[in-house]
Amino acid sequence: KVHRASTTAPVNIAVIKYWGKRDPSLNLPTNSSLSVTLSQSDLRTHTTASCSALFPADSLLLNAAPQDVSGARTQACFRELRTLRKQLEDSDSSLPKLATLPLKIVSENNFPTAAGLASSAAGFAALVRAIADLYALPASPTELSRIARQGSGSACRSLFGGYVGWATGTEPSGSDSTAYEVAPASHWPSMRALILVVSAEKKGVSSTAGMQTTVATSSLFRARVESVPSRMQQMEAAIRARDFGAFARLTMRDSNSFHATCLDTDPPIFYLNDVSRAAIAAVNGINSAAGAEIAAYTFDAGPNAVIYYLAEHAAAVAGTFKGILGHVQGWEGQRGRAVEDAGA
Ligand code: DP6
Repeated sequence: KVHRASTTAPVNIAVIKYWGKRDPSLNLPTNSSLSVTLSQSDLRTHTTASCSALFPADSLLLNAAPQDVSGARTQACFRELRTLRKQLEDSDSSLPKLATLPLKIVSENNFPTAAGLASSAAGFAALVRAIADLYALPASPTELSRIARQGSGSACRSLFGGYVGWATGTEPSGSDSTAYEVAPASHWPSMRALILVVSAEKKGVSSTAGMQTTVATSSLFRARVESVPSRMQQMEAAIRARDFGAFARLTMRDSNSFHATCLDTDPPIFYLNDVSRAAIAAVNGINSAAGAEIAAYTFDAGPNAVIYYLAEHAAAVAGTFKGILGHVQGWEGQRGRAVEDAGA
């Protein structure tokens, strides 16, 4: 007999970045972070988890390619979820014994791999929720975020929709380092994201390695960590008030602060390239022409830009980018848009 459950988890893009770990094995961060969830129909991972005595061993397929499941991160997620299932089985002997059966995880991203988007966040979030559903765990999204965090830090934020915070927490065990909802997507329905695909190549320095080197070598990093708590408060207030100008200024400053610490890392880490810088200049141009911040850029550990704007400014923002880029291929949806071929 094969037991099975399926779920999806969305991509999230941080506007206050997670960069730095105080505990690298539990992915406990040095600062809180906050993200905007992209629309599920546009950017998400779909995952089916099954378990059966017929399976030879634990396995994981991502977009049909077999993945290594022996890594500490995947193992940590499997172990935590099996422990919770075991507790259920111990408390109710009528339940089928699933905790010890081999797991088979099959994941698909609905966004083109060529979009160059980091998918570990949606990937681990979907993996954890699919197994939790398979095991019929009564775990809350908060509890699942604690487990997904161990797969990839940013994954904890993909257990919620809308505007999502991730608290640093203070417990060495990480029990209080979990995600929380700041506001649901419906709170600010006109929010839009445009993804400019500058390069679909895999990034040179992974976030995991990059942030460790930054923590070890950057002196600017300390100043960044000290500035995040007040920026988090201001960001949460801006979202609650639907104040796009404040949201945009904080988003751009935080992205710049993160990339400044990357440059201050030894050896320096360069995620932005000339096309990224042209996108920054274009946003600045759009905002000065409008006489207000109607667009905000942010960059993760790579050159691709995510531009946030409100639906009423779609022509001025997305229209301008499409004009600049000339040749736009894409796939568009309600809240996430990928624009390929940014002239790179
Ligand atoms: C720049 O979550 O990928 O996207 O915890 O080592 O898996 P690990 O790192 P990861 O780092 C994401 C870094 C970022 C900022 C963010 O998403 O907050």
